Amino acid sequence: MEWFVVFWILVGISAGCWWYRKEKSSSSSSKNDMNMEQTSGVLPKGSFGWPLIGETLDFIAAGYTSQPVSFMEKRRSLYGKVFKTHILGTPIIVSTDPGVNKVVLQNHGNIFIPAYPKSIREIFGEYSILQTNGTLQKKVHALIGGFLRSPQFKARITRDIEHYVKLALASWKDLPLLLIQEETQKFTFKVLVKALISLDPSDDLDFLKREFDEFIKGLICLPIKLPGTRLYKSLKAKERILKLVKTIVEQRKLGMERSGDHENQNAIPNDAVDVLLRDGSGEQNDRQSLSLDFIISHIIELMIPGEETVPMSMTLAVKFLSDCPVALEQLTEENMKLKRQKTDSGDDYCWTDYMSLQFTQNVINETLRVANIINAVWRKALKDVEIKGILIPKGWCVLTSFSSVHMDEENYENPYEFDPWRWEKTGASVKNNCFTPFGGGQRLCPGLELSRLEISVFLHHLVTTYRWVAEKDDIIYFPTVKLKKKLPIRVTSIGNSS
Ligand code: HEM
Ligand SMILES: *[C@@H]1O[C@H](CO)[C@@H](O)[C@H](O)[C@H]1NC(C)=O
Ligand SMILES: *[C@@H]1O[C@H](CO)[C@@H](O)[C@H](O)[C@H]1NC(C)=O
Repeated sequence: MEWFVVFWILVGISAGCWWYRKEKSSSSSSKNDMNMEQTSGVLPKGSFGWPLIGETLDFIAAGYTSQPVSFMEKRRSLYGKVFKTHILGTPIIVSTDPGVNKVVLQNHGNIFIPAYPKSIREIFGEYSILQTNGTLQKKVHALIGGFLRSPQFKARITRDIEHYVKLALASWKDLPLLLIQEETQKFTFKVLVKALISLDPSDDLDFLKREFDEFIKGLICLPIKLPGTRLYKSLKAKERILKLVKTIVEQRKLGMERSGDHENQNAIPNDAVDVLLRDGSGEQNDRQSLSLDFIISHIIELMIPGEETVPMSMTLAVKFLSDCPVALEQLTEENMKLKRQKTDSGDDYCWTDYMSLQFTQNVINETLRVANIINAVWRKALKDVEIKGILIPKGWCVLTSFSSVHMDEENYENPYEFDPWRWEKTGASVKNNCFTPFGGGQRLCPGLELSRLEISVFLHHLVTTYRWVAEKDDIIYFPTVKLKKKLPIRVTSIGNSS
């Protein structure tokens, strides 16, 4: 059954890439002014495998094992850190070299653009930041990133995160068994929606969650849009979400106009809607302002990259800690110390309190390194590029494999071991571009700091409230990282006494 689904994903991806190449080649003649430099690099070594399917079956088979990077490792040992292959219907250059990945991600000159299969493009929507390029992507990235990074936002969202985490944890003690992967998804969705549209728990929020779950199922599906198909149902759910978000955004715009707030450029925005609306009304500058339709559809598309990644990181942190009692003990100790301090002084926590817990931060880094929630990104070269003597020909896909770098013995000793203490030695891996769970360069995840904060708050309250026993569960890596049984655990409260 799974093989069948995967087959269709591949067909979808192939069709996407093929369509893209065709379109490029027909429009390329007009683009000779793109200052094509003379490139002298050579195409990397590698094998194209079988006709048509290339090395796709090997790639997928590796994806189903506990070491999905074995596909890359095998070829790297034969051909070098950057090699060519033919997977998912397209010739592709795979990079397991941190330096090459860095150049691709930095994307000076906008040579590399995202390339996604058709069903995914439909789900994302045409304006989604995940597939726009050039100035529009830069602009939205800067607006959203600046907002999510601002200390004012972090201060405010910390209280919301605490609130939702505590509510969730309080309800856990009555459950005989709970599925971490599901439970974390519930409260992280509330945080995300709060940050984007300031929607508090309500019927609207429940509606949004239900429809979003329906919508997101279409992300990996057959690229066929007929009544009854997965893609069709997902797009219908998206329409219903659009309607709700539209009402919210329109009301907000009205309110803003009435209060004259949009002229006050110094007012602190409450959420992503505010940020995008204010920019849209800044008429004194000649920047192209964002239309209401753009804002509405964009708000929904902003939910996609944050919705599963954060709860999966939390789930995997719980999994790795369950399997490594020494780390759990040290983590608990560090967090208990903070909790005692706060109880004694009667002060509230602020976001810097959570972020200053050094061992907790090491646990988070190590979780992100081993988990590889986004294991690579796909790009497409708009012209011939040479990086470190390697030629990436125009029209080719490049896959920057983050997991290969994270699981490379050259970069991390015993890479398969969950070892948070390795981060105590030095942050050198970060400097050498060997740690890129959030990507890098032009599209570095704008949700990076929010994610780390959420995970920190969650771990703090979890380990200072409960002890738990996790059932045995296995990680599945393909097509996305998941736990086979959603990580069932049994919790017991610990008093405030320790
Ligand atoms: C642990 C959690 C997360 C991980 C591992 C993660 C990872 C990533 C990665 C690797 C990229 C780069 C994609 C590319 O280069 O094509 C990315 C982009 C992005 N992420 Fe995250 N992310 C996380 C959480 C979040 C959250 C919570 C949000 C929203 C609040 C978010 C919003 C975005 C957006 C909008 C982009 C697109 C940026 C652009 O293309 O300019 N992410 N993320
Ligand atoms: C870049 O994005 C715009 C829309 O934002 C699109 O029309 C254009 O085709 C994209 N360029 C390429 C090369 O895909
Ligand atoms: C953990 O990762 C972050 C980037 O996500 C980095 O800034 C920080 O320095 C890392 N911690 C250590 C101890 O290297």
